[in-house]
Amino acid sequence: MTDESPHPAAGDDLIAEIGRLEGEGRDRLAAAATLDELRAAETAVVGKRSPLTGLRRRLGALDPEGRRTVGKALNAALEALEAVAEERRAELAAEARRRQLEAERLDLTEVTPGRPAGHLHLVTQAIEELEDVFVGMGFTVAEGPEIETEWHNFGALNFPPDHPARDEYDTLYVGWGERGSTLLRTHTSPVQVRVMTGSPPPYYCVMPGRVFRSDTADATHMPVFHQIEGLVVDRDITFADLAGTIDAFTKAYFGGDFTSRLRASYFPFTEPSAEFDIQRPDGTWLELGGCGMVHPNVLANCGLDPDEWQGFAFGFGIDRLAIARHGVDDLRDLFTNDIRFLTQF
Ligand code: PHE
Repeated sequence: MTDESPHPAAGDDLIAEIGRLEGEGRDRLAAAATLDELRAAETAVVGKRSPLTGLRRRLGALDPEGRRTVGKALNAALEALEAVAEERRAELAAEARRRQLEAERLDLTEVTPGRPAGHLHLVTQAIEELEDVFVGMGFTVAEGPEIETEWHNFGALNFPPDHPARDEYDTLYVGWGERGSTLLRTHTSPVQVRVMTGSPPPYYCVMPGRVFRSDTADATHMPVFHQIEGLVVDRDITFADLAGTIDAFTKAYFGGDFTSRLRASYFPFTEPSAEFDIQRPDGTWLELGGCGMVHPNVLANCGLDPDEWQGFAFGFGIDRLAIARHGVDDLRDLFTNDIRFLTQF
C-alpha cells in the first residue's frame, strides 16, 4: 500500500477509511458463528452494497495518481477480506462436521443400563439349563469330538456291520482315511464310549453336543441339531434307577406338575431299551428321547467287565425341547440368525 509519490489529501482520507472498514470487516467475519451468519457478514462486508465497495464511487473525484493508489488499496482490502471469509468458512464447515459426527456417534461397545448388549442363543441357554439341572443331581459334564470314527459312533455301540439300524441314522461320512471310517457323529452316544474308554468307572455324566444327519431341513428336522446324552455306570445300577433319574430330571427341568413315562423300544447299545415321553400338565405328551440299560457288549467293547459294572444311558434332542418351551413352531427359526427372532429370548 506504499507509494513513493505524494498523495492528495482526499486520497489519504479514503485510504484511512479503507483501513477502518477493512478492520471492521475482519472483526465481523471473525464473529460469524455459523455458515449462514458468515454468508450474511460476507455480503455486508464485501458485497456490492457494502460501504467498502461503495468507496469505488468516490474514486472519480481523485486525480489519476490518487485513483490508482486508492483503487489498489481498495482492491487489496476487498481481496484480503474475501480471503478471511474463505478461511472462516473452512473453519465453520469443519466445526459443523465435527458437531454432526459427535451427534451421530454410535458406541457399539456401550452398554445401556437396563438393556443387555447381547445374550446367549436359545439352544445355548437350553444346554446350560440342562447342565445345571443334571449337575444339581450329581452329574458331571463331558464332551467329545463332532468328527468321529465309525467305531465310536457305531461299532463300539454294538451296531453289527451292515446292520439296518445304521441306515436309520442317515450318516454323513467324511472323506478321511479308509472309506466309511470317519463321519460326522449322528448322535452323542459315541461320547459314552469316549468316557468309558477314558477313565475307570463309576460314571455319572451328561454329554451335550452337536450332531449331524443328512436330513432335509423342515419345521421339525435339521441336518445339524443338538442332543444331550446321559451315562451312569456303577455297581448295582438297575432299570429302577434309570426310570427314577428320568422322572427326577423331568420334574427338576419342567416342573413338579410334569410326569414321564417309558415305552419299550430298540437301540443296539441298550438292553432293555425304551423311549421316554413327558406329560405336560394339560395331559398332552411330548416324545423326548431314548434310553436303556447299557448293553453288556458295549461295556465289554469299552474294556469294562459287565459282571462287575452295570449302567444306564439316555439321550434326547435339545432343539425341539427349546422351541417347545418357548412356543416356537419351526425348528429352522433357531438357525437362520434373524436378529428379530433371536432378541425375543
Ligand atoms: N443315541 C440315541 C439316538 O439318537 C438315543 C439314545 C441314547 C438311546 C442313549 C438310548 C440310550 O437317537
